[in-house]
Amino acid sequence: MQDFSTLDQAWLSLFDQFALRFDATGTEHGRETARMVRAHADARPKWHLCAHDVVLAGALAPLYQDPLAQALERLSPFLVWQTRGVFTDNEHTNRAYVEFMGPDGMLYSDQVRLGIYWHDRHTFYPRHRHEAVELYHIVSGTGFWQHVTDTWTPRPPNSYVLHQANEDHATKTGAEPLLALWSWLGDISFNSYSMDAAPTDSGMGFRDFPSNQSG
Ligand SMILES: [Fe+2]
Repeated sequence: MQDFSTLDQAWLSLFDQFALRFDATGTEHGRETARMVRAHADARPKWHLCAHDVVLAGALAPLYQDPLAQALERLSPFLVWQTRGVFTDNEHTNRAYVEFMGPDGMLYSDQVRLGIYWHDRHTFYPRHRHEAVELYHIVSGTGFWQHVTDTWTPRPPNSYVLHQANEDHATKTGAEPLLALWSWLGDISFNSYSMDAAPTDSGMGFRDFPSNQSG
């Protein structure tokens, strides 16, 4: 029989790091998310290998010996990566997220969606909005955020950005890939999710993934 104990340990470490980092934002959203994470500290996903083309090495490299990076490295073959929305046009995925906990999560919850978000180098996530209140904690790489206004603000590791319900936001990266933890609270359905068309003057082509048409 396969021994999943190191996966279980990595998952526990992942949830511990998630709660610590969200508490450290000092926001009520962060504290509420941390409470939910800790309340599920004893739960474990069913472990299945998942084929995917997300390459985390570039985002994890700056986090040498960080317990979160070590947990993600161990869990990487078992993470259930999902794609949604418009993606810069490549033959491979360049943005994706894992829902650790939520209605579509590796663990089920109807109270929260939370997980990790990966955004490759030189990638653009067009402006979008949703009813859910959303907190990002930047783990690795400096991403650039538009939040309500047109100004691009750098978001370095260990910073956070809180999107209130229906506030416009967009993200882009330069030379560094971005890795972030995120959570949604409030109305966590995708019913209100909408995204603007990608700008045509960015020098990057875009495509819709057929799998993103539903939900
Ligand atoms: Fe968002």
